[in-house]
Amino acid sequence: MFHSGLLFKAVALPYEWVTRHLVWERHCAKMATRLPEGARRVLDLGCGPGNSTTHLRAATGAGTVGADYAFPMLQRARKRDAALPLVCADGGNLPVRSGSLDAVTFHSVLYLLPDQPAALREVLRVLRPGGRAVLLEPQAGTRATFVGLLRALPTPRWAFTALLWRTMSALYGRPTPESLRAALEAAGLRVLEIEETLGGLGLLAVAERPA
Ligand SMILES: C[S@@+](CC[C@H](N)C(=O)[O-])C[C@H]1O[C@@H](n2cnc3c(N)ncnc32)[C@H](O)[C@@H]1O
Repeated sequence: MFHSGLLFKAVALPYEWVTRHLVWERHCAKMATRLPEGARRVLDLGCGPGNSTTHLRAATGAGTVGADYAFPMLQRARKRDAALPLVCADGGNLPVRSGSLDAVTFHSVLYLLPDQPAALREVLRVLRPGGRAVLLEPQAGTRATFVGLLRALPTPRWAFTALLWRTMSALYGRPTPESLRAALEAAGLRVLEIEETLGGLGLLAVAERPA
């Protein structure tokens, strides 16, 4: 599969349109509730048009920075909130000092990365001891697809977004709770929580850098 950052360069505006939805936004806000107490320095990796970044920033203040490989996505994020600190960066090589962040967040990003173990090792490097990785990823499995899409049906515009997300993640691959736990632990992170989210379509995972 080709580099998803190239794909997202081409679809920044339509992506913004399909995800500017109450259900998506609510789950962006939910990620902010999993940040460590008093978190100030947060990197929202794969921030896209700023959906997740805006909610994280509301919870943490000016210290939240959005990072994305696709410059057109950063332009959308800038349009959404002119005050958002943004940086163009690749998830495998973050321009961030070691041990300097309270949290790194991924909202539907890890599954897109070509070298996920390297990206998670990079997260471990930049987190301070006790700092957290907070991830929202699509969940693998036929049950997740059927149950999740069925639950989305009463909200047609969300069902359309969910179907696109499902299709995209089928192309790149989705984790199970077990494989996500294994990937986080292999990188040296301690898993605090993995739960179903987005009606079962997704997984919300929280892991911390051991002290
Ligand atoms: C599904 S979007 C998620 C956007 C946003 N987090 C949200 O909540 O809607 C995935 C984003 O990850 C970015 N991305 C893909 N590969 C990347 C990489 N290697 N490094 C940084 N960002 C990347 C894409 O450009 C895209 O904006």
